[in-house]
Amino acid sequence: MIRKHFVHFIVPVFFLVLSCAPEVPTEEPAPIGLIADSAMVVSAHPLASKVGADIMKKGGNAVDAAIATQFALAVVYPAAGNIGGGGFMVIRNADGSTDALDYREKAPLAGGRDMYLDEDKNVIEDLSTKGHLAAGVPGSVDGMVKAHEKYGSLAWSELLQPAIDLAADGFELTEKEASGLNRYQENHMDANTITPEFLVKEDGWKAGDIIYMKELAHTLELIRDQGREGFYAGETAENLVAEMERGNGIISLEDLARYKAKFRTPVISEYDNYKIISMPPPSSGGIALVQLLQSVEDFAIDGMGHNTAPTVHLMVEAERRIYADRAAHLGDMDFYPVPLSELMQKEYNVARMDSFDPEEATPSLAVSEGKPAVAESMETTHFSVIDPAGNAVSVTTTLNGGFGNKVVVAGSGFFLNNEMDDFSIKPGYPNMFGLVGGEANAIEPEKRMLSSMTPTIVEKDGKLLMVVGTPGGSTIITSVYQTILNVLEHGMGMQAAVDAKRFHHQWKPDTIFVETNAFDSTTMQSLEAMGHKLMDRGSIGRVDAILVLPDGRLEGGADPRGDDAAAGF
Ligand code: DON
Repeated sequence: MIRKHFVHFIVPVFFLVLSCAPEVPTEEPAPIGLIADSAMVVSAHPLASKVGADIMKKGGNAVDAAIATQFALAVVYPAAGNIGGGGFMVIRNADGSTDALDYREKAPLAGGRDMYLDEDKNVIEDLSTKGHLAAGVPGSVDGMVKAHEKYGSLAWSELLQPAIDLAADGFELTEKEASGLNRYQENHMDANTITPEFLVKEDGWKAGDIIYMKELAHTLELIRDQGREGFYAGETAENLVAEMERGNGIISLEDLARYKAKFRTPVISEYDNYKIISMPPPSSGGIALVQLLQSVEDFAIDGMGHNTAPTVHLMVEAERRIYADRAAHLGDMDFYPVPLSELMQKEYNVARMDSFDPEEATPSLAVSEGKPAVAESMETTHFSVIDPAGNAVSVTTTLNGGFGNKVVVAGSGFFLNNEMDDFSIKPGYPNMFGLVGGEANAIEPEKRMLSSMTPTIVEKDGKLLMVVGTPGGSTIITSVYQTILNVLEHGMGMQAAVDAKRFHHQWKPDTIFVETNAFDSTTMQSLEAMGHKLMDRGSIGRVDAILVLPDGRLEGGADPRGDDAAAGF
């Protein structure tokens, strides 16, 4: 395997052959995304991207556009867009200053370590994923309020109005949304205490149907007129707590009143001559992304080829080690001492790769966490924004599973999250993404559950280069990692980097999950010969990203795996 700068000059002939002779590329031209002169939003839904771009046409900045997009997604993409969930926003201002906003949900005051276990300390199936008890205290509305207070330039009401209009006047369903709603209608209506009639269609939803969300429009009007109080107090809060009481949930008025989104210091690190700006805890995303990049930085990945056996093997071996660290060391830093700077030291991550064998997979059983120097269907959604002044915003927001805990707050018309499943509900017990954890991520009242969301911004030579992120649970970190390397090491444009097939390893289970046709047969055989187990897995992630081109224009990368779309000017 070739290392950059010829550190450790070990080049087994087998690898040299494979790495220098990747499969002859097909002659199809590389896909190119929407090109815009100065401003762009790429999100999971064309209507939400348009809302964000229109806000910037009116003179709003990237944060204004992000706020309007978040609220629009709560309407047009109810499986993941939300006001009943939470998320993270990473900001890079045009002057190079950076910020990170944590509006992650938190455990209710009445929650506790064993709340999903029976008397024998066994996990009660589905309790942390479906129904009222699965919900964390929502953070999205306070997050948007705080973002607006610090960075907003247009009036708050202007940012809410497009979402209110979409909810009140109705909007057309896409094919994918119609089938998502049909699956919800068939399988999950039973989670509700009172049937949400607006979601019911006797003969099933189809593309082009108009859906109206009158109660949600009313809730958004309360938020427009009263700000934070429109959600965390008064009618909305009372409806939410009444919903909890009908369904044995535990979120109280006090929980809602006490919820506070927090500005945090972003995770910042170098990779070659690039700067990586990402989300700190309670997300594991930023730290794990930096660890992954540092683990492979000294290898000459550009010469090894995209999705070839040596490249995949190297990246997977880093993933295996870093996800073991994630399980042991990462949690909400307000409650647990995460060794953040130690985990992000280059020497530490290089040392983690000492046991890397370029010819053989290291079994996950042989890998445990390092000792840093100090002692569903699933839905989330990401969107990326750049405004004409060059401010950049990267937002990932979620209900966790598709339609969250499947419960609509009666009278208020929005879905609640099932984010409590992101805690380690019992040491070593896998969550819905197969992730394991322990003490660092155990449930405590008011603690935030560990996330993998990785909203990220990349700089080159002090200038904005890329805004990137994705949904996908545990695969978020590795999808962002691959997309960044596709551009930085494999020379792809933004759309090509987003379209490229993905793979994922998370330490446990000891398997590489692979998108269909991601690897050619030679690559698969080589990986299996090294001892890797491969498993075909539908699609991985929905990356929405923007690349600043050398001439200053913007290229959008909207993921073809969903309805995702770019809008810009
Ligand atoms: O915060 C997290 O890591 C998860 N709740 C994200 C869930 C997710 O991405 C589901 N979507 N595909």
